[in-house]
Amino acid sequence: MSEFLKAMAFRHACKAFDTEKQIPSEQFDSILEVARTSPSSFGMEPWRLIVVRNPNLRKALKSACWNQNQITECSELVIFTTDNDTVRSDSPYVRKMFERRGLPTEAVDMYMGVYENYLKPIEEDEILLENWTAKQCYIALGNMMTYAATLEIDSCPIEGFDKEEVEAILDLEYGHSVAVICAFGYRSKAQSEQKRLDLKQIVEIR
Ligand SMILES: Cc1cc2nc3c(=O)[nH]c(=O)nc-3n(C[C@H](O)[C@H](O)[C@H](O)COP(=O)(O)O)c2cc1C
Repeated sequence: MSEFLKAMAFRHACKAFDTEKQIPSEQFDSILEVARTSPSSFGMEPWRLIVVRNPNLRKALKSACWNQNQITECSELVIFTTDNDTVRSDSPYVRKMFERRGLPTEAVDMYMGVYENYLKPIEEDEILLENWTAKQCYIALGNMMTYAATLEIDSCPIEGFDKEEVEAILDLEYGHSVAVICAFGYRSKAQSEQKRLDLKQIVEIR
């Protein structure tokens, strides 16, 4: 089996973490590096990650996250937030992100036009915009979890939370929102058997 598929088999949504085991900092840094180098639509990198280590903050978050133990028991807790305001099509940030590619001004202007056409109907609705930036976070999330599994580090993606409550606890800046949460650490129990549909149930060849 390829190393990648081994990691896919190792990864599971870890519910019970070993509270005695901490992820070595170089390894956790490398998991964050995987987020940083993940792809995003138009290269806008709208994710802003918050690593929560403060035990009191973790406790407060736990109650806003359906009281899930992973929040307080994992070694590292990552909150994927998004900066929705800076990716609006009239934001100077967007031009800068295109300019950093070293393109001539006409090419940057062309990208800006395509971006504006694409984003206009999305950015008119706050929820659509938050969903668009959140989608980018899920790419980083998936990469991070699978990469962590190659290091035999467990994870649990978490969508079970009250978004408004979590955002209030974190006192997010205007225009920022919470997309998803991920707990990283080491399992304290064996993982249960992986249940999945068969390929033929999910793939159609036309
Ligand atoms: C986006 C997302 C959100 C999830 N949210 C939670 C959660 O809040 N709590 C939890 O225990 N598991 C959560 N899960 C885990 C799924 O229930 C789990 O991945 C699925 O049942 C398959 O099991 P496995 O990952 O162990 O193979 C989430 C998974 C994903 C992908």
